[in-house]
Amino acid sequence: MQRWAYVDGTVLPIEDAKVNVEDRGLQFGDGVYEVIRLYQGVPFTFDRHLARLQRSAAKIRIDFPNLIETAKQVADALIQKSGEIDGALYFQVTRGTAPRNHPFPIPAVSPRLIATLSPLPALTQEQRWSGIAAIVLADERWLHCDIKATDLLPNILARQAAIEQGAEEAILARDFRIVTEGASSNVFIVQSGVLRTHPDGPFILPGITKEVTLECAASLGLQVDQRPFTVEELRAADEIFITNTTHEICPVTQLDGVVVGNGTAGPITRQLQEVFLSRCQQEVSLLSQHA
Ligand code: PDD
Repeated sequence: MQRWAYVDGTVLPIEDAKVNVEDRGLQFGDGVYEVIRLYQGVPFTFDRHLARLQRSAAKIRIDFPNLIETAKQVADALIQKSGEIDGALYFQVTRGTAPRNHPFPIPAVSPRLIATLSPLPALTQEQRWSGIAAIVLADERWLHCDIKATDLLPNILARQAAIEQGAEEAILARDFRIVTEGASSNVFIVQSGVLRTHPDGPFILPGITKEVTLECAASLGLQVDQRPFTVEELRAADEIFITNTTHEICPVTQLDGVVVGNGTAGPITRQLQEVFLSRCQQEVSLLSQHA
């Protein structure tokens, strides 16, 4: 299937989309990004993702006038090219192109918006329940993890270490003690019926899927405790799951080679998955009616 990209005002086949070698996103990782899931051509929780993109850009002092409106137009153009696919929409905003020098360019240059749309098949029930294996690693990142920065080296190295140990995700812990989040996800545990996850702040990305999951938990009347938990509490949890745009609510069924619970999605995880799925379906059918 042809994949499409947007760069410098043009939508074109992804293989023809190019940026300047002196783009600061390439030179320095000087940019921010978003990943948005498309269900049948409808971007899920689109406004929340775009608001976070704008917040991330502002936090690294990139001023992109009309970013949200532009991103919506770009998404429309990419979706029109690709049709009603289940996919992943990727946006990146970089500080733009300038001769390589660490400080912001003088005179200022225009920031660059890049976008791609790639097919991403809907998860199967089997995938939703069987979950993934994870390992625990030290969180070696900076103190602005709330910014969705393109500079992902620690996250990449952690994911790669996980893969090399037969797992999919790395669960990160500051000083190997306090669990923050996954290398590309937020982390929840269930402890005697209570849901726990790290509070938003400088140590984690405020995940959109986390936010929706907390809304699902509220609608189920579940007790939630947004207080950091330790690696020991993680290991002793009744259920563990991660959340992100591509995995939705995904059980961790093996941790450092040890089976979690009975090795499949636990009862609270399943309840949350069900509510999450029906919220997706509702939003998608509502928005496709208005398209
Ligand atoms: N990552 N924490 C980190 C470090 C992440 O990279 C992500 C998402 C999340 C979850 O955020 P959300 O629920 O808004 O997707 C938490 C995306 C999927 C990625 O980098 O591909």
